Amino acid sequence: MALLEIENLKTYYYTLKGPVKAVDDVSLTLERGRILGIAGESGCGKSTLVWSILGMVPPPGKIVSGSIIVDGVDVTKLSEDELRKKIRWRKVSMIFQGAMNSLNPVYTAGAQIEEVLRYHGGMSKVEARNRVYELLESVGLDRSIASRYPHELSGGQKQRVVISMALALEPDIVIADEPTTALDVVVQAQILNLMKRLQREKGISVILITHDLAVIAELSEYVAIMYAGKIVEYGPSENIFYKPRHPYTYLLMKSVPKLKGPKESLAYIPGQPPDLINPPKGCRFAPRCPWAMEICSRDPEEAEVEKEHRVACWLEKTGGMRAKLGF
Ligand SMILES: Nc1ncnc2c1ncn2[C@@H]1O[C@H](COP(=O)(O)OP(=O)(O)O)[C@@H](O)[C@H]1O
Ligand SMILES: [Mg+2]
Repeated sequence: MALLEIENLKTYYYTLKGPVKAVDDVSLTLERGRILGIAGESGCGKSTLVWSILGMVPPPGKIVSGSIIVDGVDVTKLSEDELRKKIRWRKVSMIFQGAMNSLNPVYTAGAQIEEVLRYHGGMSKVEARNRVYELLESVGLDRSIASRYPHELSGGQKQRVVISMALALEPDIVIADEPTTALDVVVQAQILNLMKRLQREKGISVILITHDLAVIAELSEYVAIMYAGKIVEYGPSENIFYKPRHPYTYLLMKSVPKLKGPKESLAYIPGQPPDLINPPKGCRFAPRCPWAMEICSRDPEEAEVEKEHRVACWLEKTGGMRAKLGF
């Protein structure tokens, strides 16, 4: 059994206008020791999906149906108390979007790491203190950072502190939601290299969320592409980047400027992602898809096109994107 198995998950926000179907029938697995990237335009449900794993979907959001099995335990069945004691920080930890700016300004970096170790990990003060130093060093920071306040740290240093907190109790899975978005390019590369090294050394599994495909390319072995609350394509990174099978993936890849190779015109995807209260029937991308057909008003069947490479698109019935584009 995989370390994480999500099956037919639906997580909706119950607003006055009706339920926002932010995650709508998503199935996904993560093997131990792997890095999985989740990409897609803003608002497609990436954060809601990972908040669901930790039982932290904010109201008016709710898991409606489906299961999320973490190391054999269905976390959707656990109480708040059980999630806090057994899952969060210990099994699955999360680096939230904008986390480095949510460090508490009145406590030192060391005190904040220590809090995770003592209150979530049950360590004594002395044990925790020593572990703080170890953790800081493991993310490439000097011990002296422990006595500094967040305002005395650079963006990159703050992000390293946040990563050390996520690693504090040696979880199996670390989820990073847009971990480098607020950082400049050089620091961004350093943080990504750090995450890669930690993942290798500690054998943890990582879920990396980003709207930046360059970040995914740098780090992920597998990629899930989300569109309007659904995973439309999943596969090994190389396939996703070089042999995309879903028109949305293809257009998303084409809209990334390339440094090498001949200059190509940047594709942009006309139109807007749909309203998730009343999404289009059938394939949700059809209204924006250059290759849409009549049948696309029906839910696309998912097909395995290569080993561990799945796509939900009617084009596959007629030769797929490969035939359309000749790759
Ligand atoms: N508290 C909320 N109430 C209502 N709708 C929400 C709430 N939070 C998120 N949503 C909606 O859920 C959808 C998915 O949001 P989110 O998971 O944040 O996407 P992403 O992380 O991909 O940008 C969006 O349409 C968003 O507007
Ligand atoms: Mg988000």
